[in-house]
Amino acid sequence: MVPSEAKAETNKLRALIAEHDHSYYVLDDPLIADAEYDRMFKRLVELEEQYPELAVADSPTRRVGGAVLSGFAEAVHDTAMLSLDNVFSETELTEFEQRIFRYLGGDAELAWLTEPKLDGLAVELIYEDGQLVLGSTRGDGRIGEDISAGLQTVRSIPLRLRGDKRKIPKRLVVRGEVFMGHSGFSELNNRRAEAGESLFANPRNAAAGSLRQLDPGVTAKRPLRFFVYGVADSRVVNCRFQSELFPLLAGMGFGVNDLIHRCENISAVASRYRELQEIRKSLDYDIDGMVIKLDDFSLQQRLGNTARAPRWAVAWKFPAVQATTVIRGVDFQVGRTGAVTPVALLEPVSVEGVVVRRATLHNQSEIERKDLRIGDTVLIQRAGDVIPEVVKPVVEKRGGSEEIVVFPVNCPECGHGLIKEEGEAVSRCVNGHCPALRRQSLIYFAGKSGLDIEGLGKKNMEQLVEAGLVSDLADIFSLTCADLAALEGWGEKSADNAIAAIGRVRKIPLAKFITALGIRFVGEVTASTLAARFGSLDAIMDADEERLRTCDGVGERAAGSVYDYFSDPGTREMLADFERDGVEIMPESGADKPLSSQVFLFTGTLQSMGRTEAKQLLKELGGQVANGLSNKVTYLIAGKKPGSKLKKAKERGIIVLTEEEFRSLLTGAGA
Ligand code: IVH
Repeated sequence: MVPSEAKAETNKLRALIAEHDHSYYVLDDPLIADAEYDRMFKRLVELEEQYPELAVADSPTRRVGGAVLSGFAEAVHDTAMLSLDNVFSETELTEFEQRIFRYLGGDAELAWLTEPKLDGLAVELIYEDGQLVLGSTRGDGRIGEDISAGLQTVRSIPLRLRGDKRKIPKRLVVRGEVFMGHSGFSELNNRRAEAGESLFANPRNAAAGSLRQLDPGVTAKRPLRFFVYGVADSRVVNCRFQSELFPLLAGMGFGVNDLIHRCENISAVASRYRELQEIRKSLDYDIDGMVIKLDDFSLQQRLGNTARAPRWAVAWKFPAVQATTVIRGVDFQVGRTGAVTPVALLEPVSVEGVVVRRATLHNQSEIERKDLRIGDTVLIQRAGDVIPEVVKPVVEKRGGSEEIVVFPVNCPECGHGLIKEEGEAVSRCVNGHCPALRRQSLIYFAGKSGLDIEGLGKKNMEQLVEAGLVSDLADIFSLTCADLAALEGWGEKSADNAIAAIGRVRKIPLAKFITALGIRFVGEVTASTLAARFGSLDAIMDADEERLRTCDGVGERAAGSVYDYFSDPGTREMLADFERDGVEIMPESGADKPLSSQVFLFTGTLQSMGRTEAKQLLKELGGQVANGLSNKVTYLIAGKKPGSKLKKAKERGIIVLTEEEFRSLLTGAGA
């Protein structure tokens, strides 16, 4: 391919991908299959690697995250990012309107724009000539932090503005909210629970934690969303009203919340508030109130701001969704990793239309910290997400018969002694044969994060365990149609389907298999690292603790946990059963080869071979080829006319090889 063709194809792919990102993430209306999208994306990555001179800052390939940062730089806001004053009742809302009348000297009815108050993080995005050049947090309102790298990975934030170029201001500063939806939040927390990582308390914390990552690659994997809610300076857009601004911003490619509503007078605002409170229950994201803005930009400008907040807007928060009920008892549940979680059994109570019967109490120290007792009247709340939580006991209501929660010393399922490790909040059952652990591991193994076997979801797996059909992970592979069809609620067809689904996963890639085993502290990423480094299950099983510990990308705790897991004779037996049942665990190619664990990055053109050929050679020797600079890169190979990667790599102390040095490295490694 000649460079001009590459350029044309690159441009075409970028435009297409941006188009699809917009329809998928902003309009929520995907136009093509995921596989097709992935294919285009992969092709673009290839082209950009092959022709680094075609790199641009707003390429969709930036969405996957770039170099790891050492800290966040300061970002000074052109105009302060203000806060909002609050009103708490309809009376206060009317008083707010009266203040405005007094200020403007009139009392003619004013039109308002009402918007959901999104419960996430305020960010500012600066576009110059239509291109995203800076994204920052609010900070103290005047100075925030430059989180451009992370924000670039949020798919609903346009990297380049759409539409008629002549209508796009030279410099446009927009503001809006980055947040996480409920579905994304629970998926993320499920993944974390499975990996033995700490959970985010709510979607807001999860969004904040995800944006404050120094590694944008991590942010890229978090399901963050963005809605725009204003511009820093309304004079640069050609609009008279805030309500005209939104269609304009939508046309530029921003996501605009679809519940924004114009009200002709203040009593309409009050009814909209009640309406929104109802709508709120069905939303997939948290809103904590309604923002009310004067629609007319010229009036906004006349009113101006106080030091803290604009005079032309106000927030009306929703009352917290809380209720009181009584703790009738405490149940102790044993999870996959043996962790014992106390769950409060509540007198059923309706919180905003949802009947709550149980609430997690997290762990023993949480119970002690909150001083919760059985029989206590407690305040519970449904925090944004559906997981209800016990806030505190209503101490005044105590009658004296309340009982302290006694934490079991033995596993409620198998009776084995529980162990609480130094510095840990949870007690665990460490009996590898505990039926609860087995059941949970089986559910995990067949479930979404594991092999994802269709028809073997949680309920069905519980049934199979109950019926005594499976007790070991490998047992799944010896199930027959007759076994399943005989179970209650199953028919020939569903049994056939499940067996076919099991058949489809009989060949399991190593990384997936390790993830599915559900070893404590070993999530998807660690599993892939192990698979890549060791190549085969046997190699991982045979590795001593020291070797695991020194494996880059595998943490201390994970190394210990992997070692313990595979040294258990029970594990060994079970793994042998997989083989017996015809399961093939596919080795990861590339491990144990001369260049495995080395990551290469190219810049510039090679003279003696093409880049594709060079990559092929590296891969054959077990090396990996990176798309961009990150702390994983071990060598930068600088050909003729190297790009900016060279300077950056030198700054980071990455080894830079000339083409000649690269050739001798290849020869040395056996190419
Ligand atoms: S307008 C000067 N609109 O609420 C106007 N803010 O206390 C200030 N927020 O941190 C912002 N949804 O992040 C506006 N539709 C919305 C909003 C919204 C959420 C947040 C914003 C800010 C806080 C203001």
